[in-house]
Amino acid sequence: MCGIVGYIGNKKACPILIAGLTRLEYRGYDSAGVSTIEKKGLSIKKAKGRVKNLNTLDGINELEGTIGIAHTRWATHGKPSDENAHPHQDNSKTFSVVHNGIIENYTELRNLLENNGYHFYSQTDTEVIPNLIHYYFTKDKEKDSIMKFLRAVRNACLDLKGSYAIEVISSYFPDNMIVVRKDSPLVIGTCENEKYISSDIPAILSYTRDFYLLNDLEFTILSRTSAKFFDTELNEIKKKTDVIEWNSSAAEKDGYEDFMLKEIYEQPTAVRETIGSRISNNLKCEFEELKFTKEQLKKINKIYIIACGTAMHAGLSGKNTIEKLCRIPTEVDIASEFRYRDPIIDKNTLCIFISQSGETADTIAALKLAKSEGATTIAISNVIGSSITREADYSIYTHAGPEIAVASTKAYTSQVVLINILAIYFAEILKSTKKEILDNLKQEILSLPKKIEETLKCKDQILEFAKKVYQEKDMFFLGRGIDETVAKEGSLKLKEISYIHSESYAAGELKHGPIALIENGVTVIGIMTDEKLVEKTISNIQEVITRGAKTLIITNQKINYNSFNEAIVIPETNPLVSPILSVIPLQLLSYFISKEKGLDVDKPRNLAKSVTVE
Ligand code: AGP
Repeated sequence: MCGIVGYIGNKKACPILIAGLTRLEYRGYDSAGVSTIEKKGLSIKKAKGRVKNLNTLDGINELEGTIGIAHTRWATHGKPSDENAHPHQDNSKTFSVVHNGIIENYTELRNLLENNGYHFYSQTDTEVIPNLIHYYFTKDKEKDSIMKFLRAVRNACLDLKGSYAIEVISSYFPDNMIVVRKDSPLVIGTCENEKYISSDIPAILSYTRDFYLLNDLEFTILSRTSAKFFDTELNEIKKKTDVIEWNSSAAEKDGYEDFMLKEIYEQPTAVRETIGSRISNNLKCEFEELKFTKEQLKKINKIYIIACGTAMHAGLSGKNTIEKLCRIPTEVDIASEFRYRDPIIDKNTLCIFISQSGETADTIAALKLAKSEGATTIAISNVIGSSITREADYSIYTHAGPEIAVASTKAYTSQVVLINILAIYFAEILKSTKKEILDNLKQEILSLPKKIEETLKCKDQILEFAKKVYQEKDMFFLGRGIDETVAKEGSLKLKEISYIHSESYAAGELKHGPIALIENGVTVIGIMTDEKLVEKTISNIQEVITRGAKTLIITNQKINYNSFNEAIVIPETNPLVSPILSVIPLQLLSYFISKEKGLDVDKPRNLAKSVTVE
């Protein structure tokens, strides 16, 4: 939630900051603002609404400063408004701050500051930060110096409870910026005489590939030519840069109308990258990041897969494969529930955390809990160096390339691929499944990129169907077994970007209640990719047809399609990996419905890409 950008160099900061915010807008888009260091002191320009509104503000084009900070907001405390937009300043207007995260004890801090004569002009939690910095800066009787500025920021941060990534500039220090993070993302891109700061890598990838990936509470003083890092005791620490291999065009639309459509079409490549060298042509399965022995795996008596939203749906498919191939009981948990439900964890528990961004607050908290209870932890993420990968014992990457659209598509398919390969890797070590079965599955995985290309050919058929149903108010998604996990993902996608209410159900469960909602004309989408279950699901779909439902089915089975209004036929594959193909028509359906309704596909209302608050 919320995106922050910073620049310190020799060019005018404002256009760079606005360009960065535009790229980060998927993180939040209800207000935006910039603050730069000008000859006369700090400037602030901010406005309610999208980032582009900044360009219409008086004086924005006259800003000359070469150091600045910027923010695009997803409101938590205080409604979207000009006053609540970031940056925020202290009462003397000496310090400007942008903040991503939540300050849980802000009421207490606000009272403390008010008792010391400070006034507040917004309803945000953030406004306490610049005032606290000012409070500590003026209390410190040492001569003004950059270390005194750093001390004030450090002291302020130690008072904060919650999560934050912050950038601070001051009119007293016109050549510096201080940045720090705790449980919220922040990276620093570095070039010879410039530093770029951002909530995530893609926003600044066009400037540099060399990044400092900050750990929690590493206080950083930036100048044009240097980045100095300090721990909470203000001892200097050394940090190396990481080189990020992503291609900068991966973060551009490249001729597609929207990022979501581009990302749907990138799935063959993304999945190829995920497979990488993990399954070779001679069907050897290797994970260079993992070093599990048979003895270690034998001891694992329980696996939890923990994630949120789409990543959790990928986890459901992981459970299916792990249980089938490894015979280890596996549970899938929503991270926000797991962390508070006192789960049974011990040193023989393996916890797998899935997160595209690697920055989802609930997933990080669940990971910390699992570690503290002694579990072995594996992070599956798409973002190198993201928070979950730094917390977990082992990290494996999907390598799907940056995913910008709020609705997750290629991240899901690559997560399903990766967790399937992980299950094969475990099964080979454990010798829990016959070689022929594993080899067959590996072959299927290797053929997926081609089969995804084949599946994408259903685009026109889906577009026509979307035109017929885009004005509907309700839809149902049904499936059994692995297909139910895809029904869940299809339903989430539809809600997210087309704002149509939808429900997903295990097809056999419908008659235990929800069938009461089926009436003439309601759209029901059935997914049937498992030979063993297809007849059962057909019977359930017949039950809704009898009650007047309009039906779309997605199948790879040779069945009579005539009883359904529309049938999308996808390539045959092993049911364990069928979600990778069967989800594609559903991604396209939600996309085309959203387009028919004239909605903003990439930035659906109320949502943000990376949910860094609880
Ligand atoms: C997907 O379309 C969603 N926007 C959302 O459910 C997302 O998958 C979830 O917030 C988890 O994000 P993460 O993978 O970055 O942790």
